[in-house]
Amino acid sequence: MPPACPPGSGDLRPAAPDDAAAVASLLRELCAGDAAEASRAAGAATAPGPAGHEAWVATGDGGIVGFLALEPSSQPRFAVGSVEWIAVAPAARRQGLGLRLLRLAQERAGALGWRQLHACTFHTNRPALHLYVEAGFYPAATLPDYAAPGLHYVELVWCPGRTPRRGRP
Ligand SMILES: CC(C)(COP(=O)(O)OP(=O)(O)OC[C@H]1O[C@@H](n2cnc3c(N)ncnc32)[C@H](O)[C@@H]1OP(=O)(O)O)[C@@H](O)C(=O)NCCC(=O)NCCS
Repeated sequence: MPPACPPGSGDLRPAAPDDAAAVASLLRELCAGDAAEASRAAGAATAPGPAGHEAWVATGDGGIVGFLALEPSSQPRFAVGSVEWIAVAPAARRQGLGLRLLRLAQERAGALGWRQLHACTFHTNRPALHLYVEAGFYPAATLPDYAAPGLHYVELVWCPGRTPRRGRP
C-alpha cells in the first residue's frame, strides 16, 4: 500500500477498494466503453498488492475526478515500473490535474527506487502523448499496428533525476 499523501499533494490521496466503482467510470473511456472491463480493471488496480502496486485518486467537487495507478515490473531485479492507468474526468481536464498525477507518479517512482518509469499509449492519443512529454518522458519505442492496422502503440520512458520540461509549480 502507498504511504500517506506526500506534502503538498492537496486533494490527492491513496485509493481504497471502496473507490473502485467511481474509478471504473473514469476508466471506461480507456476500456473502449466496456463497463465490465473497466470495473474489473478498477477492482484490480485499487486492491492491495505488492510494493509499487499503488493507486491514487484526485477528489474534487464531483467526487473522484482523477486516477493514477502504478505497477512494478514482474521482475523486481530490474527496478522499473509503469504508469498502469492515468485518467482525468472530462470536466476536470486541461486544468493541470493530469500533470499533477504524473508528477506524483514520478515522485513515487523515485521513492520506490525505480530506475525507469514506463508509460504506453496509442499514437492517436495526443493529450496523453503531450502530457507525458511535458512531464519529461521520452518516446522510446513504437509498436506498429499493435491493436489494429494503423493503430500504433508508443512506449515512453522517464528516469528519476531527469528534469521535467516544465518546472514544479
Ligand atoms: C491525458 C489526460 C490524463 C490529461 O489530463 P489533463 O488533466 O487534461 O492534463 P493537464 O491539464 O495536466 O495537461 C498538461 C499538459 O498535457 C498536454 N495536454 C493535455 N491535454 C491535451 C490536449 N487535449 N491536447 C494537447 N495537449 C494536451 C498539454 O501539454 C498540457 O499542458 P497545457 O494545458 O499547459 O497546454 C486526460 O486527457 C485523460 O484523462 N484522457 C483520457 C484517459 C487517457 O487517455 N489516459 C492516458 C492513457 S495512457
